[in-house]
Amino acid sequence: MDNKFPKEFLWGAATSAYQVEGAATTHGKKLSQQDVINKDSYEKFGFATAEIASDEYHHYKEDVALMKEMGFKAYRFSIAWSRVFPDGTGPVNEEGIQYYRDLIDELKANDIEPIVTLYHYDLPMALVDKYDGWISREVVKDFEYYARYVINEFKDKVKYWTTINEQSIIVQFIEQKCYIPEKYKGNNQIRYQINHHMNLAHAIACKLVHELVPNGLVGAAIGYAPVYPLTSKPEDVMAAQNANDLHNQYYLDIYFKGHYTKSAMIYLEKTGMAPKIEPGDMELIKEGYSDFLALNYYASECAKACPEGEGKEICFAGVNRSGKKGEMSGYETQPGFFEMCKNPNLDTTDWDWAIDPTGLEYIFRDIYCRYEKPLMITENGLGAYDELTEDGKIHDEYRIDYLRAHIKAMKKAMDYGVEVLAYCPWSALDLLSTSNGVKKRYGFIYVDRTDDDPKECARIRKDSFYWYQKVIQSQGTDLESK
Ligand code: BG6
Repeated sequence: MDNKFPKEFLWGAATSAYQVEGAATTHGKKLSQQDVINKDSYEKFGFATAEIASDEYHHYKEDVALMKEMGFKAYRFSIAWSRVFPDGTGPVNEEGIQYYRDLIDELKANDIEPIVTLYHYDLPMALVDKYDGWISREVVKDFEYYARYVINEFKDKVKYWTTINEQSIIVQFIEQKCYIPEKYKGNNQIRYQINHHMNLAHAIACKLVHELVPNGLVGAAIGYAPVYPLTSKPEDVMAAQNANDLHNQYYLDIYFKGHYTKSAMIYLEKTGMAPKIEPGDMELIKEGYSDFLALNYYASECAKACPEGEGKEICFAGVNRSGKKGEMSGYETQPGFFEMCKNPNLDTTDWDWAIDPTGLEYIFRDIYCRYEKPLMITENGLGAYDELTEDGKIHDEYRIDYLRAHIKAMKKAMDYGVEVLAYCPWSALDLLSTSNGVKKRYGFIYVDRTDDDPKECARIRKDSFYWYQKVIQSQGTDLESK
């Protein structure tokens, strides 16, 4: 077996607009729902806001130079809708679109392939104010307006497009990912309604790429955690299958087969959470086929049986806000279907995410065998506390261990025939976490700021930076040198 990854393999890393850019309300940009949500998290938990984030808006040239130094072949990032169309629709913000032109040109000049995500959680707040955002079907036509403009603008420079980031995670963590007006709080049906509108938007974006971009390739970026049964008791195995159907299959079937997974839909109908589907919707979804699947893989999950009639109520995923192991606020429960739980066989991060490289090999094998479409990793990484030492270094051995194990798992899957186009771990540089501020770090490049103090956002190469440089230089054969 050849040890090397294919020559054309796209080594890189990922970020998203609101998590790195900053300049949240300057240069013509107006608020996105994430600017508002993160301001609230600052007030409640003391996490940094998105106002400055990693200040990539002002550091992008330096960041691209660092990516080049690491040897990147690709950079996956997202475009902020509210930077391009501050009001969601209407006139374009020239300065905003110019920023992305400059970023993409800078990447191309450095031989780094842009992998562009159209939507990463940051709906323009104007559309929330206008019609409650993704809850309303009206958003679909505004998304089309935005997507058409952006895809057309970059059709000659961007080949790889991902549509909507992590619909499955949006459903789980609805209030973290979407601004939900007070009157809808506690209404679980809107989770699946929002997701249905996103499916329509996803299909439209796929069609637009196929129509406008010569040789363009498009797919969704799914947040994918395989669900294992807690034990080999048949009831637990069945619960894991139910959870897989609702968390994973429900999305894959839309992207690749153009329909909703029956078992999951029957459960949603039974519990009053099923989306309203209008005539023509499923035809549109079928037409918007995907060329590949982008996977964001961090962890696996675990489920056990949850018999009906034991007094449990429907609840969705918990979150660990403290960054102390074991302080997860709860586990999703779908009575009669499954209950999520901790996997006793796996170690976790400080935020209780199970560390499971084999899970990556498992999902690659499983998904590829079922759909036979190329896959790419658009996120994978370890959220950790990093320490800047007095001599200006970051010894993030733990991150190297995590990434090394996942690259090995990916290679194993490739050796068994899985077609993988790219590895873009999370994240190129430190950024604002979606749930834990900036103290939970993911980057190869350290951004010198804290939750309270943005300082100058100076960039510092971590040990993992040099390690990844060698991985790329050696086409994935040298995973040990630092
Ligand atoms: C993915 C998201 O779910 O996980 C990213 O696409 C996010 O936006 C990443 O940052 C890690 O999650 P968190 O909550 O640690 O930032």
